[in-house]
Amino acid sequence: EKSEFGLFGLGVMGKSLARNLASKGFKLSMFNRHVAGAEEDVAINFKNEFEELATSKAFDDLEFFVNSLQTPRKMMLMVNAGKIIDSVIEDLLPYLSEGDILIDGGNSNYKNTKERCDYLKSKNIYFIGAGISGGEEGALKGPSIMPGGNKEIYKQVQPFLEVIAAKDMNNLPCCTYIGEEGSGHFVKMVHNGIEYVEMQLLAEVSTILKTLGNNPDQIAAILESWKPSVNSYLLEITIDIFRKKEENDWLVNKIMDKAGNKGTGNWTTITTAELGVPSTLIASALFARYTSFYKEERVVANKNFGGNRNLKPSLTGDEILKAYQFSRIINHYQGLKLIFDAAKSYQWDLNLSEIARIWTNGCIIKSDLMFDLVDILREAHNILTNQKIVHTLTELKPSVNKVVSECVLAEIPISCLSESVNFLNMYSTANSSANIIQAQRDYFGAHTYQRIDDDSGKFHHSIWK
Ligand code: 6PG
Repeated sequence: EKSEFGLFGLGVMGKSLARNLASKGFKLSMFNRHVAGAEEDVAINFKNEFEELATSKAFDDLEFFVNSLQTPRKMMLMVNAGKIIDSVIEDLLPYLSEGDILIDGGNSNYKNTKERCDYLKSKNIYFIGAGISGGEEGALKGPSIMPGGNKEIYKQVQPFLEVIAAKDMNNLPCCTYIGEEGSGHFVKMVHNGIEYVEMQLLAEVSTILKTLGNNPDQIAAILESWKPSVNSYLLEITIDIFRKKEENDWLVNKIMDKAGNKGTGNWTTITTAELGVPSTLIASALFARYTSFYKEERVVANKNFGGNRNLKPSLTGDEILKAYQFSRIINHYQGLKLIFDAAKSYQWDLNLSEIARIWTNGCIIKSDLMFDLVDILREAHNILTNQKIVHTLTELKPSVNKVVSECVLAEIPISCLSESVNFLNMYSTANSSANIIQAQRDYFGAHTYQRIDDDSGKFHHSIWK
């Protein structure tokens, strides 16, 4: 009997998704390339390891794998994003038939996903680009899934994806059809951008708490006390991280301060620049990671410029919590705004409230704030126009202003906290300094400017000297 679903690639995420699918009763075929030099076959080994895979089939031969699937075939690719996807597609093509559906479940670039959709369509093969969040545990127990592509084609794979996805508070799957082409991978990319900022903000507030004299256990206790107002998956894991000890010392103190990345934050920053959207926090979080890589230069610069670092900011825990709350709201505003503006540019019909809903469980950025955003986004796409948000930010502002000022005086780097303040200051300036930029552009390049006392919209040029 042929299998209902195929899983190509048994890395960490592929294995977890395979077990998830099998445990839901799907008849599964799994494929992993034979690893050169290995005595045992990866797929067969894996199948034998877990009871739920007893009725699944394992392959290291591509043709047998493809032929083991019911047609039209439905197959998820779980391989590293990038060129590998294209070579996997080429390897598969000779064995596929018209109407077969490939799902790319990796963190692929949304532009590549569109190209692959178009390329495969010319061969009557369908391609769904599905962002999947939640790491290894999410993949196993229920991730958040963001599928994009042709809607009718999505319906054919919907039963599989929705059953393995996490469930929201109303027991609905944290998986929804996002939109055309690469929109699923686009939304996953922005998810990761928001994730970068959420992580950076936690790193910044913890560093302030450390500077105030708290040890990791004390930082964990303070973060724990914040849960009623700002709980999130990332807050919870950060608390665990601060508590973890190894040989009587905190592990976090032993970790090299160079933050890696696999590219999605980089793409989000490139994309936001390309689309002309000021997602400044995502760029700040990305650049904070890049600056962290200048370890040797930082050590030298610390000798030259780090003289004032003994100053302690004069701050209370409550003020730091409020600053954190403030910046998180700005982060979510910016991420959602990027999705909204991209949808306009690419003519995708996206539902922001639904996107927030599938981010309430299974994914890395699930949080209490996300629950609130589901309702807020039903009313308006711009969360900064929501009166409850306006009220909250107004209440939090004095604290974030103080935290940022004190940290600047104490020379504590807080790029995302301070950028959130600067952004809202800029965003809420009715008459900005951009008039000066326009004058300068007109002065040296005759680029012309519009006048506020001429509502015809006409462009003017002046002889400045
Ligand atoms: C998720 C994560 C996941 C992964 C990223 C991290 O939603 O499950 O975002 O996709 O952990 O690759 O990205 P960096 O390596 O760039 O931090």
